[in-house]
Amino acid sequence: MKTREVHIVGNWKMNQTLHEISNFFIEMTKMKMELKCKAWIAPQSLHIPILKEIAFTTGAIQVGAQNCSNHDSGAFTGEVSPAALADMGVEFVIIGHSERRTIFGEDNKLLNEKVLAVLKHNLKVIYCVGETLEERESNDTFKVIEEQLKVGLQNVPADKAHLVLIAYEPVWAIGTGKVASAEQAEEVHAFIRGKLTQNSEQTIILYGGSVKPDNIDSLLRKENIDGALVGGASLKAQDFKQLCSASNHL
Ligand code: PGA
Repeated sequence: MKTREVHIVGNWKMNQTLHEISNFFIEMTKMKMELKCKAWIAPQSLHIPILKEIAFTTGAIQVGAQNCSNHDSGAFTGEVSPAALADMGVEFVIIGHSERRTIFGEDNKLLNEKVLAVLKHNLKVIYCVGETLEERESNDTFKVIEEQLKVGLQNVPADKAHLVLIAYEPVWAIGTGKVASAEQAEEVHAFIRGKLTQNSEQTIILYGGSVKPDNIDSLLRKENIDGALVGGASLKAQDFKQLCSASNHL
């Protein structure tokens, strides 16, 4: 029996057209979701208002963003403001996804500014950490993750700590089909929980990296794995539904 509520979070990345979004929700509605978990989706920012509207009518899904600026407003062409996201009624923002870290060069210090900018508006933040294959092979996994946590979460006010979720996403498992074994993931999740200086027992720690309907069960059975951050498999309603209902029989 899990003490923390299972969260299944779809990260749609730069995917989905309006037509595909509409089909996704038609399928979801047909499947009549009765979920015992929290089901969240982060679409492209442009699509947030549409998902908010659909989520409002279907009631089952909460909507978030995949990234945002560390500033609330100003001359930052092309950026998305956390203040605007709060205004739009999003529930959460993903910060520090490995694609942001590697493709867009976001470092722990900038990510810390983003975390604090999101929390300022009382939105939940999913802060992502994870090692590359090279780091794992040179036995640096724990060192890298400790640093990501230490810098990325510094100065989080005590009264906002309950808004922070962590996602452990080994970079070598993202979009590669190579899922970490449940044991490998649990080892790092337990380490992360041990390093959290605030709210550690209650903090939701998600696993991410090639999560699919056929591997979610073994992950969720682990004590410190409280859900999943899912890319590819969250794009299809059938798979997303199956991932969400995996927690029904825990
Ligand atoms: P994946 O992506 O499930 O397609 O591996 C996970 C993620 O990037 O959050």
